[in-house]
Order: sequence, then C-alpha cells, then structure tokens
Amino acid sequence: MFRPPREPTDPDASIRATDSDAALARLSAVQKGYLVDPFVRHLVPRAHLQPPRPPLINIGTYVRTVCIDKLVDGWLQKCSIEGRSGCQILSLGAGSDTRFWRLATGPWKDTLSKYIELDFPEITTKKTMAITKSRELSSLLGKPGEVQIDKSGTGLHSPKYHLFGVDLRLPPADTLSILLASPSTSDSTTPLLSPDVPTLLLFECVLVYMTPEASAQLVQWFVDYFSSTDNNTNRKPRVLGGIVYEMFGLNDPFGRVMVNNLKTRNVSLPGAEPYPTMQSLPKRFLQHGFRASHALSLRELRASHLGTTELERISKLEMLDEVEELELVLEHYAITWGAWIDGTGETKADWAGWGLNQAVAAQPVDSDTSE
Ligand SMILES: C[S@@+](CC[C@H](N)C(=O)[O-])C[C@H]1O[C@@H](n2cnc3c(N)ncnc32)[C@H](O)[C@@H]1O
Repeated sequence: MFRPPREPTDPDASIRATDSDAALARLSAVQKGYLVDPFVRHLVPRAHLQPPRPPLINIGTYVRTVCIDKLVDGWLQKCSIEGRSGCQILSLGAGSDTRFWRLATGPWKDTLSKYIELDFPEITTKKTMAITKSRELSSLLGKPGEVQIDKSGTGLHSPKYHLFGVDLRLPPADTLSILLASPSTSDSTTPLLSPDVPTLLLFECVLVYMTPEASAQLVQWFVDYFSSTDNNTNRKPRVLGGIVYEMFGLNDPFGRVMVNNLKTRNVSLPGAEPYPTMQSLPKRFLQHGFRASHALSLRELRASHLGTTELERISKLEMLDEVEELELVLEHYAITWGAWIDGTGETKADWAGWGLNQAVAAQPVDSDTSE
C-alpha cells in the first residue's frame, strides 16, 4: 500500500510555538493578579478560555517581567536625564509581547521616540491582524491615517511603532537594512533607526534558539552601525544598551532535564552553549566592546530585587507547593544587561552604571531636548 506523501514539516514551527507559551504565561500571570497588563488579552486568541498556568510559571513570569520593566524604565530615565530628544527600543523576537502598549500608556511615553519589533513573518502577520482588530491596541499607534500595513500583511508602521517580519538568523546586512530606510510613515529621508538616539535592544528569550555565531553577528551589526563615523564633532556620545533574558547553565542535571523536555517538542537551545555559568553571561555583550555588562539569575532577582511588600503581596496570590522546584527553575534563567558607549565623551547620565541596582524615579524629569 502506498503511503500518502508526508507534509514537509517546518523545522521552525516549534520555535515559533514558544511565542504562545510566553503569551499564555503572561496572560495567566495577569489573570492571577501578579501583573497588570490590560493589553495581553488582545494578543492571545480566545484569551477568556485559556486555563491558568501553574504558580511556578506565574512567579517566573512575574520576576522576569518586573525586572525587565525596571531595566527599560531605568534606560528611559537616563535618556531623560541626558536631555536626549528621544529613545529607541528594538525588541528582537518580540512575539506577542505587549511592552510597547504598556510604555505608550505609562510615564515614559514622551521619552520613547521609536519602538521597533522584529519576529518571524508568520508571527508578525498574526500580530498585525490582532492589532488591527483591536481598537485598544490600534488607537495607541496613532490616528487611522497614520497607521500603514505592509502590502504583504507581515508588518505594520505608525509614527512610533513598527513591526517587521524577518528571520534573525539570516545575515543582518540583508535583514536589518529595513532599519536603515526612512519610514514610510514620514516625509523625512532620515533612517528609521538613528545611531544618534540612545537605543535599547531587547532579546527576551530569543537568542537561545539561534547559533552563537548568528546572535554574535546580530549584536555586532548594531555595534558597527552605532560606531559608524560622521563629521559631526558636536554630537553627544552614541549609546546602545542590551538586555538578554534566557536559560543558562544547562549542563547540570536539572539543566539537562530542561533541554530534554524541550527536545521532545523539537526545540533545541544552541544559543545556551557558550553560557554554562552566571560568570559567562556578561561575555554576551563584553565580547562586542560593551563598556559594562552584568547578569543576575531570576532566583537572585526574586530574593533581592523585588522588595518585601511585593514579595508579601504575591505570596498571598496562590498556594505554592513546589518551592524547591521553583528555586531550581529560577536558578536556570537569567537577565543580562550591558551598555556600549562610543568614544570617551562625557555624559550627564552614567550609562555604564545603568542596571538593576539603580533606583528608578517614578516620573520622567523635564528634558531640555538639547541634542
Ligand atoms: C519565547 S518567545 C518570546 C517572545 C517575546 N520576546 C516574549 O518574551 O514574550 C521567542 C520568540 O522569538 C522568535 N524567534 C525565535 N527565533 C527567531 C528568528 N530566527 N527570527 C525571528 N524571530 C525568532 C519566535 O518566533 C518567538 O516569537
């Protein structure tokens, strides 16, 4: 008997499926009261029917989100202290993330000048459709005439927010040239991404799915672009920040269980190989000439960066039986951050000192926009 020909399987489908995991975890943490995010339900299909995730996942999602939020707020605060005319954020492998909408309705909305998201075209097509379907999401992008959808339906552009479908493993000289073109939503000829505006790169659980060579090329592309020479001797030093959140230390017994569990879902983690320890993580940025880089595990962050009031509040949300397992899981995820600054120029803000130890002011300071 003839077997029907097998459908060719898409080896990237399982990597893209990790976006649903992240979005469902965020939705669950919101529904259980860990996080406040009124936008997540617009980006998760049939959000009201989704079952909650276990407490362990909710706590991990909470720690990761709150700490990355603190880093992003701290970066925006530094832009404000410097009196810069804006701040650009790029989220690579953004998936169904809602950070843009949370920032657009938060205290730093005027400091944020561009927010650019990149992911596989299959994911950005879904996100484009979800945004256009939701009044809550689309109304925050601008007036209807200011929002343009790509002809292919894989991306969307507005005065601040841009969404592009790309495979980040391909040579950045080809895929990232979209950032050097002027935005279709403006009349100016300046590139979408300006090297003269402080820029923060977010890699939230994405580089781990790529080879170390592909992620190094990606980070180096940004460093090269921000290092490019120009004739403006009066300009302020260029600054580039990076945040990576992902698994690490996967060579120990618990790490091997994590790797094997993912293997059964066809997901491999080539990007974790160069980072077997906490000490190895800052290399992610230092190898590209970043001036400073630090890393902390989610376990350390939960123990010392949340504050007792918050810890007490979240401890009352759900019963947690798996305390030891929680510690083990949190010990295998880390947030790494780093800052790159060109030249030795003096700045008002201490960019190299940016990190999770700084206190973040509740409100932006007035900027003199003297860039
Ligand atoms: C675990 S999800 C995280 C999504 C989002 N950053 C978050 O934290 O909620 C990983 C995302 O990275 C994207 N991704 C992985 N490899 C990629 C690649 N080579 N090019 C573009 N996107 C990629 C996936 O499609 C997915 O949306």
